[in-house]
Amino acid sequence: MRIRKAVFPVAGLGTRFLPATKASAKEMLPIVDKPLIQYAVQEAISAGAQELIFITGRSKNSIMDHFDKAYELEAELESRGKTKLLETVQDIVPPGVTCIFIRQAEALGLGHAVLCAWPAVGDEDFYVILADDLIDGRLQPALAQMHRVYQQFGTSVLAVQRVPKEDVGSYGIVETQQVGPGLSEIRRMVEKPKPEEAQSNLAVVGRYILTPRIFKLLERTQRGAGGEIQLTDAISAMLNEQTVLAYEFEGTRYDCGSKLGYLRANVEYGLKHPELADDFREYLRGLTADWQGTPKKSRA
Ligand code: G1P
Repeated sequence: MRIRKAVFPVAGLGTRFLPATKASAKEMLPIVDKPLIQYAVQEAISAGAQELIFITGRSKNSIMDHFDKAYELEAELESRGKTKLLETVQDIVPPGVTCIFIRQAEALGLGHAVLCAWPAVGDEDFYVILADDLIDGRLQPALAQMHRVYQQFGTSVLAVQRVPKEDVGSYGIVETQQVGPGLSEIRRMVEKPKPEEAQSNLAVVGRYILTPRIFKLLERTQRGAGGEIQLTDAISAMLNEQTVLAYEFEGTRYDCGSKLGYLRANVEYGLKHPELADDFREYLRGLTADWQGTPKKSRA
């Protein structure tokens, strides 16, 4: 049992990062030297995906360009003998992997974006990845961990994480029944509940394995929280028909939809970057020593 298709909803406006996202895609914001969307794509490929389906919107052409062949650039790098850089550029989409771009004409929400992928996904189980949730899996990428669960149970699997009670209003929140360590069956799911109404603090983060049944349910889903067609509401309807599992992945998630999460990711990925780690650590040491040292006033 393999999953071959991965859907990347990338039509969001990225208002939290304005003005950086006025004319370019938030998914193209780099973490050190790779755009967020490339981390998401690599994670999908490492979990077996071979067909990448991007649901795009306005100002998202750079995503298309990023995953397209860049003839002039490659010829230039080749003629200058920059072999390593050439490989870096050519490896973005490995052989055998194809990209499909579907334009979401109206920004009607995550559920609507996923519904737009139906003609490309057809009647197969598939992945959905939200690129602004960057996950550094501890032993394996989060999606590959979820794929192991899928192979065992053959049902939909959502990645979940405990969040502080005051933050539940930013997530899809699930109520579950434990079936094993880190694994539970979802009983109820609510999109962005008020903290005082939430029955749990187990939040869905941006990784889903879904069965194609979701499309029929999405077709019937009315606008929900925030006036948008919510994926959560369609999954909620699916709970009456199919088992949906919640899996607490191992690893660290960076909410790169928020400025602080984005900065954290850059710092922590910088500290692990093979070319930068040592110099960057040195730099941060100096900086923190500075903060702990003499207060600015008496230094003057
Ligand atoms: C979306 C989903 C939400 C999920 C979250 C994870 O919300 O609707 O259920 O918990 O992603 O990042 P958004 O962050 O797009 O508002």
